[in-house]
Amino acid sequence: MASTFETVGVVGLGTMGAGIAEVFARAGIAVVGVETDPGALERGRGHLEGSTGRALSRGRLTEAERTEILGRVAFTTSLEDLSDCDLVIEAIPEVMDFKRALFTDLDRVCKPSAVLATNTSSLSVTAIAATTTRPGRVVGMHFFNPAPVMRLVEVVRTVSTEDGLAEEVAGLARRLGKTPVTVADRAGFVVNRLLLPYLNHAAALLEQGLSTRDDIDTAMRLGAGFPMGPFALLDLIGLDTSYEICEALFRESRERRHAPAPVLRELVTAGLLGRKSGRGFHGEEPPANPSSEEKPSASTVAVVGGTAANGTGAADGAAEAFAERLSAAGFKTTAVEDADLVVAVSRTPVIEQAVRLPHPARLVGLNLVGDQVAEVASTVLTSPGAAQVARGLLRILGRTAVSCRDRAGFVVGALLHPHLNDAVRMYESGYASMEDIDTAMRLGCGYPAGPFEMLDRLGLETVRDGLRALYAEYRDPSFAPAPLLDQLVTAGVRSIRDLSS
Ligand code: 3HC
Repeated sequence: MASTFETVGVVGLGTMGAGIAEVFARAGIAVVGVETDPGALERGRGHLEGSTGRALSRGRLTEAERTEILGRVAFTTSLEDLSDCDLVIEAIPEVMDFKRALFTDLDRVCKPSAVLATNTSSLSVTAIAATTTRPGRVVGMHFFNPAPVMRLVEVVRTVSTEDGLAEEVAGLARRLGKTPVTVADRAGFVVNRLLLPYLNHAAALLEQGLSTRDDIDTAMRLGAGFPMGPFALLDLIGLDTSYEICEALFRESRERRHAPAPVLRELVTAGLLGRKSGRGFHGEEPPANPSSEEKPSASTVAVVGGTAANGTGAADGAAEAFAERLSAAGFKTTAVEDADLVVAVSRTPVIEQAVRLPHPARLVGLNLVGDQVAEVASTVLTSPGAAQVARGLLRILGRTAVSCRDRAGFVVGALLHPHLNDAVRMYESGYASMEDIDTAMRLGCGYPAGPFEMLDRLGLETVRDGLRALYAEYRDPSFAPAPLLDQLVTAGVRSIRDLSS
């Protein structure tokens, strides 16, 4: 018989649990919220009051609606109060022993027909289900932070899940105003399996000194169009949770790309967990003052195209277009020999060009990303002055400059291309459809477009070539283009999404 889900329990009222409780209460469902002790319970109540209070102050809720929502949530420290719930969702810390112990208790306390759900981000739902006498009634119901805002719910079914139950839980997610994507039980499911390797990669590149925290965040926000930069998002998710997800991915895959970056371990050990502890990658330091530098002097500028050895560096017509923009802005362009600053418009490293110049210190690489960002790559020979003049010049042209070292992919390509490649690999593995992956990343992470939509927009060949360059530079097997991507480019197929129609 189909479940009606009129009363729902939420165990654990931290950021996620409280958000989940709010989502259910907003949908008119009675909620029993459970915490271990009165202090934690009060903090949970505080989360709910804060979040609904914010909605009230923004005019998204009336006082009466807020009172009604809060009135639907009963707060308790006793698991026994869950006995009448139709579904109980667990949102406690990501420690398997805690989860297994809790599910043993829930199995005892809850009525036999109740569905037990876990909001785990990466642990095995199958292993959690196996601790109960009702593994057929156990699913994953994975929400995204902030739960009241992000529209995705991943519904995870295991090999033991009863037929039809995942569909019922997906129906419940729709009733909450969310979009469900139903998947099988693999570490990280769709979103975390794609998102965390990208975030972890950003942390690794920061450690390698590719660029700064703020420039990497800016590059991904304004250049790739993501709603948050990777370090702001790591801080939102929590560095401890992020670390645990990477560990879980690594345990399953043994891929170096999934091994948590050492800086994550260090920050977690120091108790710097991100927003929840007040400081992570961001926090508690004076904001940078970008306007104090970067005054372009009356420099003469030369613009040249990229000439990487594999011929992929030159972006068609980009150098000419950039030179025209400079002239239109009143800058005089000149021959390379006479220039104080040589701008090599290129998608690939520019050191080869620099060493051919009489003054290699005057050359920077420049890659325009989208409408707003320009990556400015300094080689080991570039003088700080030349890089500074280049950044000032870009500001006058209305672009935000992102400074980086002269490495394959610069910042956006280095992070985005492997991320998209991971999505192709996931599709190729048969785990999820392109539509589901696109939906999951758009609604779970607020991406402006799903990975396959991005692939089509950027051009399959551009991404494939970007990956080849990254592989050549770092020799990391996960940067090798997914065989499907390679084959589509070879076959002259322009849209990867044609495969799914
Ligand atoms: N709680 C409740 N509501 C919140 C909120 C919160 N913590 N944060 C923001 N909101 C609401 C605001 O009230 C506002 O609502 P309104 O339009 O009705 O007034 C709306 O969200 C937009 O907020 P803001 O204007 O303040 O901020 P932004 O426009 O910058 O959006 C964001 C904030 C929604 C967080 C956006 O930056 C975003 O989508 N970021 C990506 C978040 C993401 O990727 N989440 C998934 C992480 S992975 C995960 O959670 C899985 C786990 O297992 C690790």
